[in-house]
Amino acid sequence: MSDANGTVAVLGTGTMGQGIAQICATTGHTTRVFDVAPERAKKAIDAIGAQLDKLVAKGKLTVEARAQAMTRLSPAEAAGPACEGCDVVIEAVPEDMALKVTLFEEVVRAAPKGALLASNTSSLSLTELGRKIGAPERTVGLHFFNPPPVMELLEIVRGLATSDDAVLRAQALAKALGKTSIVVNDVPGFATSRLGVILGAEAMRMVEMGVASAADIDRGMELGYRHPMGPLKLTDLVGLDVRLAILEHLHRELGEQFRPPPLLRQMVRAGKLGKKTGEGFYFWKDGVAVAKG
Ligand code: CAA
Repeated sequence: MSDANGTVAVLGTGTMGQGIAQICATTGHTTRVFDVAPERAKKAIDAIGAQLDKLVAKGKLTVEARAQAMTRLSPAEAAGPACEGCDVVIEAVPEDMALKVTLFEEVVRAAPKGALLASNTSSLSLTELGRKIGAPERTVGLHFFNPPPVMELLEIVRGLATSDDAVLRAQALAKALGKTSIVVNDVPGFATSRLGVILGAEAMRMVEMGVASAADIDRGMELGYRHPMGPLKLTDLVGLDVRLAILEHLHRELGEQFRPPPLLRQMVRAGKLGKKTGEGFYFWKDGVAVAKG
């Protein structure tokens, strides 16, 4: 490790990348943040600052701890420099294998030969990614959950050729990040996405069939099953585009039960991606879901 807690490169600053960078910085890791558009990396760091301000206001973080976390964060102009000398790379770019492979090829050239190479993918194969980038033994899945700073689980995904050492390092990192981890073999959708998307897709088919309103379907699962958030509101939180990409992949890999509902495709085409665009199965105003009509 290059310093007490290690240096992490976080690649991608969407909801997940930003949240992961926040966790890394607040748990003492030097954190380099990269996005294809350099201004996005800077914006993500500013947004993390705003999130930490809220924690300070609630008395959950001291002013000093916030300042220390912010000094650990820096934007990188390119993926290569972000990864130089780092201990761990965590990639959180869109769910596209070709995109991830291209990015990791640059990472492999720049990062130390022993760096742990992690993807936050929700469903793609770590075995395939590891083989394609020529580093299968140190490629591992580190699957975080939205919102990353809040959700306790870290799903560690072990590819066919991932080494025991890489899994042990991933488990140690999970602990250092304050997460509880499970280790899952590399099957499409792992343990969590496979179950999570099926519930969401079925809820969408129920909306299509006119079973009940989105808000009532959600209320049913919130009050009847004690889910913290119904499957449609959760889809809005995660992003309809993200869920569609996972379903398309699992449909190809696992079969008919994962066929994406036409309504989901239509909404994605219309740009109704959920919370991040202000509309999905709900309208979103100031971060709060408002039921439709
Ligand atoms: N970032 C940081 N903190 C956040 C946050 C965010 N985006 N959203 C909420 N929080 C914090 C709040 O500040 C609050 O903190 P305090 O307790 O300190 O006040 C706490 O979380 C609870 O938030 P709220 O009181 O606003 O609302 P809530 O009690 O309804 O909780 C929730 C919100 C944590 C999101 C909760 O509804 C929940 O757990 N929902 C389910 C989330 C889930 O299932 N995520 C997994 C999605 S699947 C996935 O991510 C994987 C994939 O591959 C796609």
